[in-house]
Amino acid sequence: MKFFADTAEIAEIRELADLGLLDGVTTNPSLVQKSGRDFIEVLKEIVKICPGPISAEVVALDYATMMREAEVLRKVAKNIAVKVPLTPDGLKACKALTGDGTMVNVTLCFSAGQALLAAKAGASFISPFVGRLDDVGFDGMQLIGDVRMIYDNYDFATQILVASVRHPIHVIEAAKIGADVITAPPKIIQQLFKHPLTDVGIANFLKDWQATGQKIG
Ligand code: E4P
Repeated sequence: MKFFADTAEIAEIRELADLGLLDGVTTNPSLVQKSGRDFIEVLKEIVKICPGPISAEVVALDYATMMREAEVLRKVAKNIAVKVPLTPDGLKACKALTGDGTMVNVTLCFSAGQALLAAKAGASFISPFVGRLDDVGFDGMQLIGDVRMIYDNYDFATQILVASVRHPIHVIEAAKIGADVITAPPKIIQQLFKHPLTDVGIANFLKDWQATGQKIG
């Protein structure tokens, strides 16, 4: 399973990259707004840190303007994945862009039917938002299971990118289902390290080692 960082914060991206855990990055207009940075400038920095797919979202709603925005975004670097919304114009843009060799991440997916349409449009990634579904009383992970089954039934190459991840259990559940990628705020990826028994074990080993009076090397 690939780990993408769902952030536009350079320091967070660098920290995960230094740990060797970063396979890609996803941004969206809200994350760019939160960063307070110029969108293109921040993208130029991210692509230097991470060679994997970097999702950059168009904001136009019509096909022609989406394609013009996509042109600007894909010029930033070869590893830009243009992010388009799951609308008829978005999927038309998806088909045109992937046909041209550009990676496309279809975002704001909330149903299996939408995921099927995105795969038929040749999407590189489909982003079902599990957290936002859970928020309104649906089962986000049920959707991931349904999309996995549908894509496997027809050997669709579209990668399932589990988005709107809110806690480490979402990551584990997505991995059990066999999702291809999760994108999560870096603090959630860091939380996967945590276990109280790991901390207690380290403390006890250090105490016992000090009692031996030995040194390594
Ligand atoms: C990813 O591509 C999405 O933009 C992101 O995961 C949305 O997460 P949120 O529901 O926490 O805003």
